[in-house]
Amino acid sequence: MKVVVIQGPNLNMLGLREQNIYGPMKLEEIHAQMKAFAEQNGMEIEFFQSNLEGEIVDKIQECLGDANGIIINPAAYTHTSIAIRDAIAAVQLPTIEVHISNIYRREEFRHKSLIAPVCAGQISGFGPFSYHLAMVAMLQIFNEMKALQEAQKQQQA
Ligand code: DQA
Repeated sequence: MKVVVIQGPNLNMLGLREQNIYGPMKLEEIHAQMKAFAEQNGMEIEFFQSNLEGEIVDKIQECLGDANGIIINPAAYTHTSIAIRDAIAAVQLPTIEVHISNIYRREEFRHKSLIAPVCAGQISGFGPFSYHLAMVAMLQIFNEMKALQEAQKQQQA
């Protein structure tokens, strides 16, 4: 089972950017931890970061037929992008929305996520550990998908 991790604008600047909000960890370090978790649990993983809305839409579309699930931090596009929301709805893959900061404790314009209604769930506010929690949740979703497929196979036999 393969998960694609999609990182939105300015997340390439983690470690430099607003450390009081996002902490000192770099994106590569977060990805290294996620990769280790994936390997330990027999999951395939791919990482993608872009500052461009259209490139994120393209990547979500490419997940169709290639991935079993998506973990996405849409960053600022969380609050603005109907295009990213529609792409997630179109591919119909289980998707988990992640935020490092607790978007509900911040400015009011961050309280609204256009993405959350088309996701399996949202994790927000646990620092870089939010990504680990998303991996645990994705593993659970994959296990449930496998169990369902097995049950369907047995019914057909
Ligand atoms: C963020 C929260 C967004 O509001 C913000 O625009 C980001 C990062 C987070 O991970 O906490 O860039 O998605």
